[in-house]
Amino acid sequence: MTEPVTTAPTAASPGTEAVIRIEGLCKSFDGRLVLDHVNLEVDRGRIVSVIGQSGGGKSTLMRCVNLLERPDQGTVEVGGEVVHSGGRMVCRDLPGLRRTVGMVFQRFHLFPHLTAVENVILAQRKAGVPEQVALERAVALLRRVNVAHRGLARTEQLSGGEQQRVAIARALALKPEVLLFDEPTSSLDPEATREVLSVMRELAADGMTMLLVTHELPFAREVSDHVVFVDGGRIVEEGSPQDVLDNPAQARTREFLASYGTT
Ligand SMILES: Nc1ncnc2c1ncn2[C@@H]1O[C@H](COP(=O)(O)OP(=O)(O)OP(=O)(O)O)[C@@H](O)[C@H]1O
Ligand SMILES: [Mg+2]
Repeated sequence: MTEPVTTAPTAASPGTEAVIRIEGLCKSFDGRLVLDHVNLEVDRGRIVSVIGQSGGGKSTLMRCVNLLERPDQGTVEVGGEVVHSGGRMVCRDLPGLRRTVGMVFQRFHLFPHLTAVENVILAQRKAGVPEQVALERAVALLRRVNVAHRGLARTEQLSGGEQQRVAIARALALKPEVLLFDEPTSSLDPEATREVLSVMRELAADGMTMLLVTHELPFAREVSDHVVFVDGGRIVEEGSPQDVLDNPAQARTREFLASYGTT
């Protein structure tokens, strides 16, 4: 029997339990501080959007969650367990962390010589999922993101929007507790953007926990429970989408939003 493809949270009800908790996070590159005492919490079933100008530290913040970047200071907790603290790695199971925290990148990062189905199977195979289960899960997930008809096409034969939907299927295949999206539509045309946002909207409706960096402010307003404006490595302002995007308290936030023509 094919297993159900659910992305709904399994434990506590939404908002009662932090899946990601970051405290006092600092990170420098070449002696330059790019994250400056950042605190952030993403509760189960919630969607948090991070917005801000290029170079502000948004990607670095995301990458510190799954330890693609190692923080210099502060604490990163995932699923109730401290994974990095005081500049020291505490996580003893990095592959396990990467399964718990799925990530979708701006530039898809699929294997070019593999088909869509093979791309979704590969990570599962590495995680020890039996081949038949991995195949069934891949097919179901490709259906879920509306790209099953391209399952046998190689990455290089897929459009950008199709590739990003395959990348989302791949991220879901390991049944993550939270998905990180780093500007998932920035390299897509408007139609492909709509398709990818529609898949993300469905994931949101299903109760998937998400941390999202985006320049799609109307989308952030629509799906987010919480919006965080990051500038120069600091959280300048955060709150409900209405507060931050429609009625920002900080002049810097207003200036940033004005550059989008939204205020
Ligand atoms: N591996 C690295 N080595 C050196 N500097 C880095 C590295 N990664 C990021 N930086 C620098 O850290 C700062 C923050 O970068 P980051 O990619 O987090 O910004 P961002 O907010 O995601 O920007 P964008 O909107 O352009 O994606 C930038 O000045 C960037 O050049
Ligand atoms: Mg970035």
